[in-house]
Amino acid sequence: MRKLLPLIGTPSGSHPGGRSAMTCRFRCGDACFHEVPNTSSNEYVGDVIAGALSRRSMMRAAAVVTVAAAGAGTVTLAGAPEANAAPAAQAAARGKHKGARGLRFTPVAPNTRDAVVVPEGYRQNVVIRWGEPILRGAPAFDPEKQTARAQAGQFGYNNDFLALLPLPGERGRQLLVANHEYTDEVLMFRGYDPDNPTREQVEIAWAAHGLSAVVVEEDRRTGKLTPVTRHHLNRRVTATTEFRLTGPAAGSDLVKTSADRSGTKVLGTLNNCSGGTTPWGTTLHGEENFNQYFANGSRATDKRYGLGTGATERKWERFDKRFDVAQEPNEVHRFGYVVEFDPYDPHSTPRKHTALGRFKHEAATVRLTHDGRPVVYSGDDERFDYFYKFVGSKRMKKGTSRAVREHNLSLLDEGTLYVAKLTGDSPAIEIDGTGTLPGDGEFDGSGQWIPLVTATADGAVSHVPGMTAEEVCVFTRLAGDKVGATKMDRPEDIEPSPVTGKVYVALTNNSNRGKAGYAGPDEANPRPGNKHGHVLELTERWNRPESTSFAWSLFLVAGDPQDPATYFAGFPKDAVSPISCPDNVAFDPHGNLWLSTDGNALGSHDGLFGVAVKGDRRGELKQFLTVPTGAETCGPVIQDRRVLVSVQHPGEVDGASVDEPASTWPDGPGTIVRPAVVAVWRADGRDIGV
Ligand code: FEO
Ligand code: CA
Ligand code: CA
Ligand code: CA
Repeated sequence: MRKLLPLIGTPSGSHPGGRSAMTCRFRCGDACFHEVPNTSSNEYVGDVIAGALSRRSMMRAAAVVTVAAAGAGTVTLAGAPEANAAPAAQAAARGKHKGARGLRFTPVAPNTRDAVVVPEGYRQNVVIRWGEPILRGAPAFDPEKQTARAQAGQFGYNNDFLALLPLPGERGRQLLVANHEYTDEVLMFRGYDPDNPTREQVEIAWAAHGLSAVVVEEDRRTGKLTPVTRHHLNRRVTATTEFRLTGPAAGSDLVKTSADRSGTKVLGTLNNCSGGTTPWGTTLHGEENFNQYFANGSRATDKRYGLGTGATERKWERFDKRFDVAQEPNEVHRFGYVVEFDPYDPHSTPRKHTALGRFKHEAATVRLTHDGRPVVYSGDDERFDYFYKFVGSKRMKKGTSRAVREHNLSLLDEGTLYVAKLTGDSPAIEIDGTGTLPGDGEFDGSGQWIPLVTATADGAVSHVPGMTAEEVCVFTRLAGDKVGATKMDRPEDIEPSPVTGKVYVALTNNSNRGKAGYAGPDEANPRPGNKHGHVLELTERWNRPESTSFAWSLFLVAGDPQDPATYFAGFPKDAVSPISCPDNVAFDPHGNLWLSTDGNALGSHDGLFGVAVKGDRRGELKQFLTVPTGAETCGPVIQDRRVLVSVQHPGEVDGASVDEPASTWPDGPGTIVRPAVVAVWRADGRDIGV
């Protein structure tokens, strides 16, 4: 008999995407409160009929629940489901040994605890927190005595993507690489004045962005991980580290500045969100909401990247004129790329690959063609934007010599960048905005990868009429508009299954879908006012990564399973966990898909979920953990005996500050809230979920 899993009911959140306004302010520069940048008229999957229908069936207005931030401790959202949790969890526990291999655990009930909550029988530790020293000479973290110099040697803020890489020859150790997406100044600095940040505060924020590489040591008996300070591979990359720009746009007039007449040397990386690990032993990092760091954006030549007018939230332009578009118009063209980092060479210059295009890259995940060429998937996280694929033309070489590594570091400079166009196979009239499956039983159809630009050793060729190759690489969104790419509901992380080859695309939400003046629901984005998001499953033709056509279907349509507009790959909905706003995706060693969420619009804290994608348990979604107040879950890495997650922006609740915290995770009352990385393992030492 199927066991009923804990459900939750009350929508909450003070923002259209389910997030606090503070998250919007610091993370994405209030993207949801601004006009959608994609005003292009290119067609979408359902065409005009669905648009008309959607306007009749406008999204129900979500009850806006103000989250009280005053005072420390857990902030409880109205209608939070903790009262339901106990009997439901007990019911679930009775079935904990059932489920797909790798997913046999008791699901965590939705909750609003200011803690990382893991399944019964599992343990956790905080691996590393914001501010912990990782470089020689860096001081211990002292929130009252922060300096930019100290931060440059300490773990950065708001860890997002995580990679755990092997360290041959160092038994029991792995190399952790983390993104530091952005800074929450009001939670970092006591008495922070947003109108008048000091130079020191701004320089601390520069040093708190970027990447960290830090060696971690495994406890022999458990899954616990602890950082190894002063290891020679430990490294910080920040908003001022030198990068090399590569690919077709490197050296072009579009990226030259007064400080860099060559157009090839960029200082820093910003808003690194998710990423990927390459088969040649480097890591990729998506520069996402870079627009928010640049002032006076109305002076910019393009209008497709959401640049704001006037001053920025953080006022960096007061301390470095490169952040002022009016003074340095091309600096903003040097952000928004996929960054490649070689964590095994602590002296390497990281690169920004213009051949993979410039947009709000959420992630970049790599697979190889049968003849060893790289294929990289990347989503552009904005409402009504696109997702992309790059197919390299050079083969990866095996080995670790300097010449081999140098060759492999050039793999992402030559190849073709494509954008996705999807076509539904059901009549538009059947996509009625209720989420009801169309007559053929699935939201599905076919798709094309439309070429945008091909880069070769001898130069680059644009496939977009009216745009040069350099322009396609710098103004990639415009190229997507021109070729009729499909407007999606915030394409975030994308990951191919290492077992089946099918590709999973997380579409987080889109509050504007179907609103007057915007694209209506279509078969690939079937819900108006999409609050909870969905997950698309894509099968490349002949299952070849380099194919230029594909089939697709919606694997999950997220939300409360009691909501008839949800779908869990056909699995009975009384036996799955509720999920909202899928964001990052990863696979475990058994081939199960894991999803982390950002912006739960069901009243629970965000979390991490596992779901089988094949077999008779396909679609059985189970929640593995929840994160503390105000946090999102990201960076999941699922190993045999360990789950690693980023707890990003804990305490990020409207009105919260250092003196009035909404969360005191991870160290408890009286301490400053700190983003951190958490490892989870089984108390009995066995593999996860078996
Ligand atoms: Fe940084 Fe799209 O999440
Ligand atoms: Ca269909
Ligand atoms: Ca993300
Ligand atoms: Ca996110």
